[in-house]
Amino acid sequence: MWAMRLLVTGGAGFIGANFVHATVRERPDVQVSVLDSLTYAGSRESLVPVAEDVRLIEGDVTDAALVSALVSEADAVVHFAAETHVDNALADPAPFVHTNVVGTFTVLEAVRRHDVRLHHVSTDEVYGDLPLDAADRFTESTPYHPSSPYSSTKAAADLLVRAWVRSYGVAATISNCSNNYGPYQHVEKFIPRQITNILTGRRPKLYGRGANVRDWIHVDDHNSAVWRILTDGTLGRTYLIGAEGERDNLTVMRTILRLMGRSEDDFDHVTDRAGHDLRYAIDPSALYQELGWRPGHTDFEQGLRATIDWYEANESWWGPLKNAVEATYAGRGQ
Ligand code: NAD
Ligand code: TYD
Repeated sequence: MWAMRLLVTGGAGFIGANFVHATVRERPDVQVSVLDSLTYAGSRESLVPVAEDVRLIEGDVTDAALVSALVSEADAVVHFAAETHVDNALADPAPFVHTNVVGTFTVLEAVRRHDVRLHHVSTDEVYGDLPLDAADRFTESTPYHPSSPYSSTKAAADLLVRAWVRSYGVAATISNCSNNYGPYQHVEKFIPRQITNILTGRRPKLYGRGANVRDWIHVDDHNSAVWRILTDGTLGRTYLIGAEGERDNLTVMRTILRLMGRSEDDFDHVTDRAGHDLRYAIDPSALYQELGWRPGHTDFEQGLRATIDWYEANESWWGPLKNAVEATYAGRGQ
């Protein structure tokens, strides 16, 4: 008899796979099913260590009949599935509208029909950006002001969840988290791209001057907060997840180079991203005070070193993706 039957959408992606690993490791009484369409960003290999413990259903989160059937067999849904890379969204926004908006609508209709608890995973990018020189941070009352096709489709999804809570009484919570790092992150993203550039003899690539600030959190901390919200959160609420890890991109770049034994100037400046958000910063105090949650990875350099070790040891996971990703970036001058 399972304590909980959990459906995880997007569980073969970066954060979802880490969430599934942590759940299998720490909550053996939870039955995990993963729904993932295995896009370029999803990988069966990411779930190989837990293959005996979870059921992986390859399918699209916009497939209403499939989603309804899976939701009807679950006690709760954690919805990670999304298109997530800003540079891809700028090049082709259509899949972002499909998966992020229509996919979330499909999940909402299924949890409404079957009266199943939902946790919707979102991003702090829905709030737009903050000035570089200000001290203020995002809170749950910050107005939505998304900049990119990625963040605007995530914002649309969040608003659908809020409306389904209010209009239909759907039992949902939302979390908006800052930038994650850790194992199994696709090599298109900033930190793994630079690590694997160095490992393959390429020079790391910095957009613009590198003054943009991101608020880094280890993926295991994001996921422990998601679990806390799922079990103890107030229905209908939005929680911001962050670990007070603000750093500008140039500093992160130099730290990676130093930890990998390179000169801190051994990188290229490349074409900046269009509409590049300046700064993201989360005020996590509501989560700290109301749910008593704290991040476990408070030493960024230590987390980064472990992440570098993981990419060094797992070239078989990322190696087959690397050349194509770099060819796409090269085509964009980045
Ligand atoms: P990812 O791109 O690594 O993984 C996304 C997963 O969703 C992949 O496995 C992919 O195959 C799957 N997917 C995509 N379209 C699908 C579809 N139509 N049907 C079924 N599956 C589909 O993303 P991630 O970084 O793990 O992000 C997961 C969630 O967390 C997203 O909702 C994202 O917005 C949110 N988030 C990410 C970050 C971050 O720093 N990466 C920060 C805050 C919030
Ligand atoms: P990214 O990992 O794409 O996350 P997001 O845009 O969702 O925050 O990028 C993080 C930051 O790093 C962002 O400011 C863009 C920058 N960046 C680079 O400087 N070089 C790169 O090669 C990439 C991929 C990103």
